[in-house]
Amino acid sequence: MLLVACMGLSLVACGGGSNTPASNDGGTTEEGNEGAQASDEGGSDENASNEGSDEGGSSGDVITVGFSQVGAESDWRTANSESMKSTFSEANGYKLIFDDAQQKQENQLTAIRNFINQEVDYIVLAPTTETGWDTVLQEAKDAGIPVIIVDRMVDVSDDTLYNCYVGGNFKLEGQKACEWLKAYADAKGITELNIAHIQGNIGASAQIGRTEGLEEAAEKYGWNIVAQQSGEFTQAKGQEVMESMLKSNDNINVVYCENDNEAFGAIDAIKAAGKTCGPEGDIIVVSFDSVKAAFESMIAGDLNATFECNPLHGPRVAEIIQKLEAGEAVDKIQYVDEAYFDTSMDLESILAERAY
Ligand code: AHR
Repeated sequence: MLLVACMGLSLVACGGGSNTPASNDGGTTEEGNEGAQASDEGGSDENASNEGSDEGGSSGDVITVGFSQVGAESDWRTANSESMKSTFSEANGYKLIFDDAQQKQENQLTAIRNFINQEVDYIVLAPTTETGWDTVLQEAKDAGIPVIIVDRMVDVSDDTLYNCYVGGNFKLEGQKACEWLKAYADAKGITELNIAHIQGNIGASAQIGRTEGLEEAAEKYGWNIVAQQSGEFTQAKGQEVMESMLKSNDNINVVYCENDNEAFGAIDAIKAAGKTCGPEGDIIVVSFDSVKAAFESMIAGDLNATFECNPLHGPRVAEIIQKLEAGEAVDKIQYVDEAYFDTSMDLESILAERAY
């Protein structure tokens, strides 16, 4: 196989919330080890786009990667897809078969089976939800195709069904957000927190971890979660859910959104209801991802804080594939380094350097 130059990846320890902006490509914290498998050949199907060449299957030194992406629901997801597409390019020695599942697990199951039929070299899966993968991943294993799980985790009975995972530590993100909220409320003298909780897609790792972080903190600190509903990680649903929560609860002083896009929608709903938000407003707004638009929202005085979920997985996955190609072991669980950002920071300078 052609030796592909791996893009920058720093292997530094994952810290808790920090006032120091994280690098845009971030690093990973690795746990456990796993061996390698490989096969060859690839192809295409009607729902997938071939990013690397016009032909199906691998040939010569080209490595064929089938990537089953969740969808295009958020700014984060767009940045994640771009990272994968720019990394797994023909110029870098890859043929990428990219499949957008439109947030439906059934589409992902079909895509993976198509990748198996096409005899791709590697399957990369960003799973919609954690459960429901045992059968199809067993089929990939039986076909001898290595599987790399990215972004969200899978919950399978046999962890040899995938080679490794690279993505965020979602519970840690939630815990960092809640510790920030506790310190912020204490500093402002706010003793009663009535929280509107806009969740992500139910069953996705990003929802499960961030929800656990909040629910545990609410129990520990005596906070009231006055409303809880999925905003499906989209701006439109975030707005719709917040409108309804504000109508049923007149005491909300915090909204905890499980991604930035939901927060943008919630902020629109807050303003439409004649309320204010942000550091000078009635309602504290916190969210996750730290996309560029979140910095703009903080600079505008609407969003209070955003907790990073780094989407730039392409170079990390390429490094894993190159290790597997070389017959080297890879760490089983590889968490991405993530920081947080709030309005006490020099957001203009950070935004100027931001990659997504
Ligand atoms: O799994 C990562 C989450 O998925 C991001 O927080 C969100 O924006 C995306 O839809």
